[in-house]
Amino acid sequence: MLRNYINGRRREDKQDESGQKKGAKIISVTSGKGGVGKTNFTVNFAIELAKRGNKVLIIDADFGLSNIDVIMGIIPKYDLSYVLRREKHLAEIMNEGPFGVKFISGGSGVYDLLSLDREDIEYFLNELLYLDNIVDTIIFDTGAGINENNIQLIRSSNEVILVTTTEPTAIVDAYALAKTVFRNDTGAKIRLVINKADSAGEARRITDNFSSVTNSYLNAGIEELGYILEDANVSRAVKMQKPFVMSFPNTTASKNMANITTRFLNLSTENDRFGLKSFFQKMLKR
Ligand SMILES: Nc1ncnc2c1ncn2[C@@H]1O[C@H](COP(=O)(O)OP(=O)(O)OP(=O)(O)O)[C@@H](O)[C@H]1O
Ligand SMILES: [Mg+2]
Repeated sequence: MLRNYINGRRREDKQDESGQKKGAKIISVTSGKGGVGKTNFTVNFAIELAKRGNKVLIIDADFGLSNIDVIMGIIPKYDLSYVLRREKHLAEIMNEGPFGVKFISGGSGVYDLLSLDREDIEYFLNELLYLDNIVDTIIFDTGAGINENNIQLIRSSNEVILVTTTEPTAIVDAYALAKTVFRNDTGAKIRLVINKADSAGEARRITDNFSSVTNSYLNAGIEELGYILEDANVSRAVKMQKPFVMSFPNTTASKNMANITTRFLNLSTENDRFGLKSFFQKMLKR
């Protein structure tokens, strides 16, 4: 029954030239240390991607505490737990922000996924297939640090954006997180973003160091995504509850974000979009 449903839905899906269905690309934005700018990055990156024609969904995977809603200036009514309790469909808990960026508050629901029974899994899978059809990029804003939930979410994603500031404490924690991710999966795709840098030169030095250390000690490559300079307009934008790429489009941080987005899109290929079904299956595989 479920299989028929999935197959039926599949045939209706958009297909590329090879006849393959393209699922959404799933990205986790994470950090070793807290407060390094993940949530601000996520929101502004999502808007920048949407401006360039991508259909983006943000999921708050920080137990509803990421404050994405506050930064975007929208008030979510429901979170993922309503879907898991079957009180709402995914479509009904989705909020819409600027440039059509969609936002779901995960609440504790993202991790409740890990303990669903078989029947719930089938129900939820159907809900997910709907999402796969309406968005092409899904960004999880995760909590900081090495914990089982975070690592499981990262492992299940197509790629990870690792955010760090230039402070040694943040860098050391970012390295520890990268180490854990690579230990699970030597081929993991980790993209590094240096936030709140004093200068392009400082960001360059840290990126080079980071990649040389991961290369020599972890035998794994980290891809550089770019940097965002320390910019007082980031905090002003938060207070205005309007993402900085919109409230201050010409400020340094916005220009840096545009560069990061270009780089991200250049690094992307159509083959690295696994879709939500595959994501969900990995989430369930402990
Ligand atoms: N490039 C920047 N320049 C100046 N301030 C910044 C910059 N990026 C982020 N900030 C500030 O850093 C603070 C933390 O940002 P944010 O909430 O996005 O971090 P976070 O990593 O999501 O935190 P948490 O780990 O608590 O979820 C905010 O006050 C924000 O204004
Ligand atoms: Mg956050």
